[in-house]
Amino acid sequence: MVPLIGAANRDPARHPDPDRLDVAGRDGASISFGSGAHVCIGALLTRIEAEITFRQVLQRWPHLRLADGSPQWADNPAYRGLTALDVVTG
Ligand code: HEM
Repeated sequence: MVPLIGAANRDPARHPDPDRLDVAGRDGASISFGSGAHVCIGALLTRIEAEITFRQVLQRWPHLRLADGSPQWADNPAYRGLTALDVVTG
């Protein structure tokens, strides 16, 4: 069995617009931290770190936006991920 976790959080029946960054949390249906008995025990820590990081970044660069041609996705059917995320800060 080969799990293709690159499809996680992208089921069109649950996430009609999966490329949109929804910081409010996509109706709470994210499976990024697993679920059930083995749900990630670091999820809360990670969310706190992310909130601190995004707040700092947006305070430092309030006009931050994606550069043309960004983001660039890795060509890997098993794992979704970026090869580059070019931004414009000014
Ligand atoms: C972006 C960051 C993270 C992601 C996406 C993530 C994702 C996950 C996922 C999907 C699982 C479930 C695996 C399974 O079902 O077998 C898991 C489990 C786990 N995570 Fe994380 N994790 C993150 C950060 C962390 C951090 C910061 C810690 C510790 C401080 C942590 C500790 C653990 C542990 C101990 C488990 C195993 C829980 C168990 O089996 O009962 N994770 N994580």
